[in-house]
Amino acid sequence: MNDLIKAIKELKKEKNAIILGHYYQKGEIQDIADYVGDSLALAQLAAKTEADIIVMCGVHFMGETAKVLCPDKKVLVPDMEAGCSLADSCPADQFAQFVKEHPGHTVISYVNTTAAVKAVTDVVVTSTNARQIVESFPEDEKIIFGPDRNLGNYINSVTNRNMLLWDGACHVHEQFSVEKIVELKAQHPEALVLAHPECKSTVLKLADVVGSTAALLKYAVNHPENTYIVATESGILHEMQKKCPQTTFIPAPPNDSTCGCNECSFMRLNTLEKLYECLKNESPEITVDPEIAEKAVKPIQRMLEISA
Ligand code: 13P
Repeated sequence: MNDLIKAIKELKKEKNAIILGHYYQKGEIQDIADYVGDSLALAQLAAKTEADIIVMCGVHFMGETAKVLCPDKKVLVPDMEAGCSLADSCPADQFAQFVKEHPGHTVISYVNTTAAVKAVTDVVVTSTNARQIVESFPEDEKIIFGPDRNLGNYINSVTNRNMLLWDGACHVHEQFSVEKIVELKAQHPEALVLAHPECKSTVLKLADVVGSTAALLKYAVNHPENTYIVATESGILHEMQKKCPQTTFIPAPPNDSTCGCNECSFMRLNTLEKLYECLKNESPEITVDPEIAEKAVKPIQRMLEISA
């Protein structure tokens, strides 16, 4: 393992590459990444890097976002199969049809979408800036929000809007069990529940803090004296525990405890071995149709401008 880590670091230097990792990656990937962050931070870092190669240790849409922002750079992903159930729940042709059927709407899409969906979008959001971006539009603005219905419902409730929602969801965040979280709270009455807004509203009702991965982490870092039940992909516990070594973090259980569903199987496809191979072979490489990229870059840039 140490040899592998050394070899990755050497290749990275030799090829002037940068390794970006999402909080849901395996711990060893987070540890070797140059930067670990949420979807917004990864897009911001990709947009400003001077590296020749970006290795995106996350899922496919994150690599695509980086490629759209940096068309002249080589963007690699350790495993091309690392997809996203949420992005898959929104096929571009069906979304484009939905947009066409509702003329006069501003289209806001979550970053967990393909570049082709972003190409029919006015502004992209992440869970960190969704509220801010929605609120940047007048209250009576007609908005289509896709694809995550749970995030959309949450933003509707906190902003008092009535956005038209696409009916998609993340298979990990949909799985958290209300009953098991209630049981855990009974066992740990002092614990606060941290929940990602992709969770169902019944889970969000139990939450003391609702926020993106970065927001949940920040809350824990600022209040390390609490115990936390964490309702998001359990990879985030690695960084939480690293930043708050004395704090107890309990991953919220999914409905079916035998399925390990609070881990995103796509995120976990990336391994140190695959990271090494991808840097060595400069493959698999993300490509985006230039015509789609030209359209998709605008709503991503608009997001980066609003959240700068
Ligand atoms: P964040 O924007 O909080 O990183 O969430 C990304 C994600 O993929 C959640 O499923």
